[in-house]
Amino acid sequence: MDRIRIVGGNELSGNIPISGAKNAALPLMIASLLTDGTLTLENVPHLADVEQLTRILGNHGVDYSVNGRRLRQSEAYSRTVNFTARNIVDTTAPYELVSKMRASFWVIGPLLARMGEARVSLPGGCAIGTRPVDLFIDGLQALGATIDVESGYVIAKAKNRLRGNRYVFPKVSVGATHVLMMAASLARGETVLENAAREPEIVNLADCLNAMGAKVSGAGTSTITIDGVDQLSGASVRVIPDRIETGTYAMAVAMTGGDVVLEGAEPDLLQSALDVIAQTGAEITPTNEGIRVRRNGAGIAPVDVTTAPFPGFPTDLQAQFMGLMTMAKGKSHITETIFENRFMHVQELARLGAHITLSGQTAIVDGVSKLKGAPVMATDLRASVSLVIAGLAAEGETLVNRVYHLDRGFERLEEKLSGCGAVIERISG
Ligand code: EPZ
Repeated sequence: MDRIRIVGGNELSGNIPISGAKNAALPLMIASLLTDGTLTLENVPHLADVEQLTRILGNHGVDYSVNGRRLRQSEAYSRTVNFTARNIVDTTAPYELVSKMRASFWVIGPLLARMGEARVSLPGGCAIGTRPVDLFIDGLQALGATIDVESGYVIAKAKNRLRGNRYVFPKVSVGATHVLMMAASLARGETVLENAAREPEIVNLADCLNAMGAKVSGAGTSTITIDGVDQLSGASVRVIPDRIETGTYAMAVAMTGGDVVLEGAEPDLLQSALDVIAQTGAEITPTNEGIRVRRNGAGIAPVDVTTAPFPGFPTDLQAQFMGLMTMAKGKSHITETIFENRFMHVQELARLGAHITLSGQTAIVDGVSKLKGAPVMATDLRASVSLVIAGLAAEGETLVNRVYHLDRGFERLEEKLSGCGAVIERISG
């Protein structure tokens, strides 16, 4: 299994291009199931999760190509990919495919809306909490679907087309908002989703659906209205820049010191995180190219954060921020409110010399003046990258095991960081 070797201690300076967002690309790809036309997506990152989803979509009959070639033959990054679901050949998403990635469960929405049925395995994905699917089931039932859960599969049917309705999410869910927006686009009549997720990825999907001929309004607010249409067509849509990748590299610079331009990054997508990073002492400046992050000399100030749905501080940056706080001059409190088990990085950061104690959903981080490199491993994507950041700032060598987690969500990580002066390499095997 590949590992990442880091020799810490260098400042980062230079430019880092920000890739298309994984969490926007995945639902956009799934939206291709809604039409027999071709959905062309620009700025698709080259990531293991994207590859996995192409396999899942392929199983349903989606054909895909990158500049005329099959996706896996392409070495290009930030690619333009065409997805065409001319015929849906299978409405079952099997356990072997879905168990590897939670987002693949989302195919349930478009399959049900277009085909009147879907049989989708209960999902897997990062081990960060129980991650139930009750909101998807409730929401689709509100649109008239009948749903059974049998032998690990959710079986959804709507023989006479889904019907628009008002649905109030009892809890904000990104995935359930994506799915209901897609399903309602082909339902009969109007759907109003309240307490919907407001993440930028939701807006990217709504824009895509509208480009395909849907009538979605209010995305980005907590009330989304969808006027169902009979059929959707192909379209061409650009994947937004990855706000989590942006925040991750900004935190890396805030930790190691240096001066980096995050090319193509958009501040509006992560303002709350940028505000927090600025409070730690880094200088954040929006520029024509993206976002410039600088820190020199002064120590890292401790800042308390609590994760929250957008526009709050993202849970997907919590681990990285904890990495940064391990070297702050004082104590910080980091509270996780979205997932109940998203502190697996705590014990790994401790291997590097961090002082962290847990009290329920809050981690109390007592900053230390230096970290020392060590072998570490993590069980999820964002936790893994928090170890990379900490390794960049630690003295000596850090070996990050289980790199496949990083490959799920960070495109060209070693190349981007070594281009800015970091000593980081992949060791194969
Ligand atoms: C999306 O996951 C992201 N994944 C996650 O990023 C991200 O952490 C999360 O949103 C929150 O921002 C993708 O976009 C592919 P949720 P999702 O439904 O949609 C509970 C990463 O590292 N819930 O908004 O699965 C759930 O357990 C990943 O890139 C229910 O209770 O998250 C959680 O506590 C990890 N019942 C809360 O809602 C349900 O039916 C929010 O989860 C659905 C969710």
